[in-house]
Amino acid sequence: MEVVIVPDAKAGGELIAESIAALWRRKPDALLGVATGSTPLPIYDALTAKVAAGAVDVSRARVCQLDEYVGLPSGHPESYRATVIRQVVEPLGLGPDSFIGPDGSAADVQAACDAYDRALVAAGGVDLQILGIGTDGHIGFNEPCSSLASRTRIKTLTEQTRVDNARFFEDDIEQVPHHVITQGIGTILEARHLVLLATGEGKAEAVAQTVEGPVASVVPASTLQLHPHATVVVDEAAASKLK
Ligand code: F6R
Repeated sequence: MEVVIVPDAKAGGELIAESIAALWRRKPDALLGVATGSTPLPIYDALTAKVAAGAVDVSRARVCQLDEYVGLPSGHPESYRATVIRQVVEPLGLGPDSFIGPDGSAADVQAACDAYDRALVAAGGVDLQILGIGTDGHIGFNEPCSSLASRTRIKTLTEQTRVDNARFFEDDIEQVPHHVITQGIGTILEARHLVLLATGEGKAEAVAQTVEGPVASVVPASTLQLHPHATVVVDEAAASKLK
């Protein structure tokens, strides 16, 4: 695992956007796995600026979702599908066929999860997966004690994660769904390159356990230690509890 400490979130976003741009220059149809939440926004901003400046051609680029809420009405602005379209697909000018994600409104959720795992394989696998990290060490929505071999499946959010995400739902925890579909830890570990960005002091403890603690299902992000090509980019605040 490579750990890169940057001065701030903007510098982290710029660094990761450059490695994504380099990937798309090398492999124009590379599949980029995108996370949602606040942390990756500087990555998407920096990437959008590169595309606007003509520094990278994204005409064949593809993106895929990491996770999705279950049970939000179709078209809800906080569904991760809508979020990824708004924050990544539209700003980069990607076509509708460039984007895959799980169906959070399917009647048979497990069938939708299985279909998504098959779609990822059919797409040739994820070339670079962007990850954020929860304050409890989750990646995707693999909450503490998730199976290290897990595949895409339905999960129940912890109270802490629902509290953390209430800011996207008018600060009303009642509106935050209880269930999500998430790529499993086993699924995530199949991406060719994992890039986790963590910023802010609130992530410092989770980062320290991820990087310096034992590999353990109580800290799902610690499984990045098992991956042959994992990069953890942290700002100084998020790095503050590293030894
Ligand atoms: C969401 C996801 C989550 C977030 C994590 C941190 O797609 O994968 O694991 O990355 O909850 O969220 P923020 O960045 O909002 O602190």
